[in-house]
Amino acid sequence: MTAYTQATNELQTIRDWIRFAVSQFEASDIFYGHGTDNAYDEAVWLIMSTLHLPMDTLDNFLDARITIAERIKLASFIEQRITRHTPTAYLVKEAWLQGLKFYVDERVLIPRSFIAELLNSDSSTGDLSPWIEFPEMIESAADICTGSGCLGILLASVFPNAAIDVIDISQDAIDVANINISNYGLQEQVTAIRSDMFDALKGKKYDVIISNPPYVDAPSMATLPQEYQNEPQLALGSGVAGLDHTHTILREAANYLNDDGILIVEIGHNREALEAAYPNIIFNWLETSSGNEFVFLLTKSQLT
Ligand SMILES: C[S@@+](CC[C@H](N)C(=O)[O-])C[C@H]1O[C@@H](n2cnc3c(N)ncnc32)[C@H](O)[C@@H]1O
Repeated sequence: MTAYTQATNELQTIRDWIRFAVSQFEASDIFYGHGTDNAYDEAVWLIMSTLHLPMDTLDNFLDARITIAERIKLASFIEQRITRHTPTAYLVKEAWLQGLKFYVDERVLIPRSFIAELLNSDSSTGDLSPWIEFPEMIESAADICTGSGCLGILLASVFPNAAIDVIDISQDAIDVANINISNYGLQEQVTAIRSDMFDALKGKKYDVIISNPPYVDAPSMATLPQEYQNEPQLALGSGVAGLDHTHTILREAANYLNDDGILIVEIGHNREALEAAYPNIIFNWLETSSGNEFVFLLTKSQLT
C-alpha cells in the first residue's frame, strides 16, 4: 500500500492532512517559488483551496473531518505535487497577485511579476506617482506578453478610465486571459489580442505600456527546477542572454506610446547586461520587494 492510499484510508481531519502533506513535502525534493516558500504554507494552500475553503477559516476547520472523495482528491494532488513536481497553482487552478485571484493552468506562466506591486489600487500607483500624477487621466494602456492577463487586469484596477489591450503570441494564453477578463467582468475595458509583440498593434498608441516578457537566459533555462519546466517554455526563455524580447520592446515601444507615455518592463537578473547594451539610456530602476534591479521605467522621450 502506498503512503497516499494509507493516508486516504486513515486520515480524517484537515489537521491530519496538513500534517501528512507537510511530512511528505519535507521528505521530498520539491521546489517552492510559485506563491509559497515552505512546506507548511504550500500544504495549507493546497488543502484549503482543494476543499474550496477560504484561507482565513483554517482555525475553524482544522478538526473538520473530510469525505472519502475529498481525501482521494487531496492524496492525488499531494502525489502529483511530489512525483511530477506540478506546481500547486496548476493543481488547484488558481494563483494570487496583489490580493486578486487568477485562474491559471498549464497553458500560462504562474503569476509572480514584481510589476504587480506597482499596480496596487490601495496605494494608487505607488512608485509610479512621479510619472503618473492622476491615474484617472490615463486613457489607454497595453500589457505586452500578458500570459494569464493578470497584469492587464491590475492595470484596469489602477487606471479605471483606460482602454486596455493585453497581448500574447500564444493562443493558449489569450484563452486563459479571456477567462480572467470575464471572471472580473472586464470585457468592456480589457481586450486580449494575439500578436507577436507589437505586430498586430500597428497605428495604436498608449499612455502606458507594461511588459513582463520572457527573460531567462540560456544557461539558466538549462538548469531550471522541474516546477519551472512544467510552465510554458515560451513564457521563460529569451535567447542566449535572456534579453531578446526586451530588445524588441526597446526598439519598438516608442512607436506605440503617446508623447507623455511611459514604458515599464521587468527583466529578471539582467540589469548589468542591459545597461551595458544601452550605454546611452539612463534607466529609471523602480523599487519593488525584490530591490531595484528588476523593473525599469522609461519615458517616450528617453526611448527616442
Ligand atoms: C514571463 S510570461 C509573463 C506572463 C504575465 N505577464 C505574468 O506576468 O504572469 C511571458 C509571456 O510572453 C509570451 N510571449 C512569448 N513570446 C512572445 C512574443 N513574441 N510576443 C508576444 N508574447 C510573447 C508568453 O506566451 C508568455 O505568456
